[in-house]
Amino acid sequence: MQRRTIVAPSILSADFGRLADEVRAVDAGGADWIHVDVMDGHFVPNLTIGPPIVRAVRAATDLPLDVHLMISNADAFLDAYATAGADVITVHAEACTHLHRTVQAIRALGKRAGVALNPATPLCAVEHVLDDVDLVLVMSVNPGFGGQKFIESALSKIRKLRGLIDDGGLDVRIEVDGGIKVDNVAAVTAAGADVVVSGSGVFGADDYADTIAQLRRRGDEAIEIA
Ligand code: DX5
Ligand code: ZN
Repeated sequence: MQRRTIVAPSILSADFGRLADEVRAVDAGGADWIHVDVMDGHFVPNLTIGPPIVRAVRAATDLPLDVHLMISNADAFLDAYATAGADVITVHAEACTHLHRTVQAIRALGKRAGVALNPATPLCAVEHVLDDVDLVLVMSVNPGFGGQKFIESALSKIRKLRGLIDDGGLDVRIEVDGGIKVDNVAAVTAAGADVVVSGSGVFGADDYADTIAQLRRRGDEAIEIA
């Protein structure tokens, strides 16, 4: 199956005072998914979005909501984020003691299950649940803040993960999150990713639609060459 680039703007860099308008603007600008960064001030050194905000985003768009939980006790909140309107729920391997149980719980709620890996976390943390997930999120910054620099070692991790997924004939998406802009998206998709998250790259631009179109075009061109 031919991969294509799925562009997921992260609302972390949106103007929260006009959040619904910002979500509608990237929706109208051609975004594929809306990426929602949930931080608890414990697993990561920042606090962001709770279920009521996810509900507000849900009301502003019909696009899939890609909820990235950077929280320590994800199990306690899966139901709340599912009910609030998440379509994809991604938990961190580092934060889940019983990761296999947690991904089953996400699927039992009728949602797509993702597992995220921090830059220093090896792929073996997700290898034994690859059959049970819809998505693996490779972090290309240390989670907690938008606007950080892309960590190059993510590329070799993406390549290895692409090999595991293809060798196993699995239907698992590779999402990459952190420091992705128009000028480096090609490296990410060429390495094997299909979902690219961009926060400051999209919301920091003057023209959201043009930036999303460029991310998709450069991402797709690199897939064709690879
Ligand atoms: C970081 C978040 C990212 C962040 C990406 O912890 O998970 O989704 O919003 O922002 P940029 O694209 O600015 O690196
Ligand atoms: Zn994220």
